[in-house]
Amino acid sequence: MEVVISSTPDEAGKLAADAIEELIRRRPEAVLGVATGSSPLLIYDELGRRVAEDSVSLAKARAFMLDEYVGLPEEHPQRYLSVIRDEFVDKVDVDPAQVSGPDGLAADLATACEVYERAIAEAGGIDLQILGIGTDGHIAFNEPGSSLASRTRIKTLTGQTRRDNARFFGGNVDAVPRHCLTQGIGTILEARHIVLVASGRRKAEAVHQLVEGPVSAMWPATALQLHPHVTVLLDTAAASRLQLASYYIETFQGKPSWQGF
Ligand code: GLP
Repeated sequence: MEVVISSTPDEAGKLAADAIEELIRRRPEAVLGVATGSSPLLIYDELGRRVAEDSVSLAKARAFMLDEYVGLPEEHPQRYLSVIRDEFVDKVDVDPAQVSGPDGLAADLATACEVYERAIAEAGGIDLQILGIGTDGHIAFNEPGSSLASRTRIKTLTGQTRRDNARFFGGNVDAVPRHCLTQGIGTILEARHIVLVASGRRKAEAVHQLVEGPVSAMWPATALQLHPHVTVLLDTAAASRLQLASYYIETFQGKPSWQGF
């Protein structure tokens, strides 16, 4: 796991965009894993700028989302498919038909999860997965207690996640759905490269557990310690509880310029 501590969230967003740009240059038809939440927004903004400047193109790329609320109507602005359209698809030149998520409106949700797993596999798997982290250490919507081998399935959101996400629903926690479909931890671990971004002091404990805690279903993000290629991009506030922060900084500063992520 490579841990990079930047002085600002902006800088972390640029580093994530660098990793994506490098992948797309190598493999224009790459499969990206895209995440919702506020953390990846700086990445999407930066990618949008680079696409506008013609320095990169996502025209041949595909993207799969991590998760979706169950039951939010198609026109709901917080439906994750709408969020990804507004925050990612509309800013870059990816083909909207090549961006998909689990179907939270399916009559048969269990089958929708299987269909989604198959679609990812048929696309050849995810080359680079962007991830945020919840204050309780969740990744996608894999809440504490999730099986570290889980696949895409229905989950019940914790009170903490619903309170955290109420800000997107006008502050009304009752408007936040109770259920979601989410890629499992086992699904996420199959991505070839995982880039997790986190900023702010509220994430510091979850980040400490992710990087330095014991692997445990109580902090689902700790499963990433089992993956051979994870990049964790932090601002100083999110890194504030890391015991080995100075070692991570020294390692990154001493990294040869030819060695990318
Ligand atoms: C939601 C999403 C996660 C995201 C998390 C953190 O619960 N399902 O994928 O990582 O929020 O969001 P934020 O980056 O806004 O703190």
